[in-house]
Amino acid sequence: MKTTTLVSTALLLAFAVQGTASAASAKEEAIQKGYEHYKIFCINCHGKNADGKGPLAATMKITPADLRLLKQSDPDTCIAERVLKAVSGVHDGMQTKADMPTFSGNLESITIYELTQFLKAIQK
Ligand code: HEC
Repeated sequence: MKTTTLVSTALLLAFAVQGTASAASAKEEAIQKGYEHYKIFCINCHGKNADGKGPLAATMKITPADLRLLKQSDPDTCIAERVLKAVSGVHDGMQTKADMPTFSGNLESITIYELTQFLKAIQK
């Protein structure tokens, strides 16, 4: 009887661990894909380290945001909301209405989700 309990506990644990592992890898995958999108759509302005120092930054009136500091600069607004607003051209609270292009019609929601996972993963 005791052995059965032990075995079923072990099995339950194994399933629990496996569950966690696959959840973690789905997240890792989203972060990785987010970085791929980032390289295509965002890197030229926000930079390869997301510090706002991309090659186009020098040509802009307003420095692109340091995307590693989203959490620090406004801990009360969730990052998904900030990203969604930025790519949709909603600029309240930002310094300019001109410098960041509007992506909303061009990015699928899954792409925005993956970009968000990437940006969440690099917060300082
Ligand atoms: C053409 C240059 C350019 C590109 C490309 C660009 N951005 Fe930006 N982004 C900016 C600038 C400039 C700002 C700062 C705007 C301001 O402060 O008014 C900014 C600000 C932001 C912010 C800050 C919003 C906040 O809440 O403070 C986020 C998030 C952001 N960008 C995400 C992205 C993502 C994600 C991409 C790629 C899909 C991207 N940006 C592509 C120029 C760019």
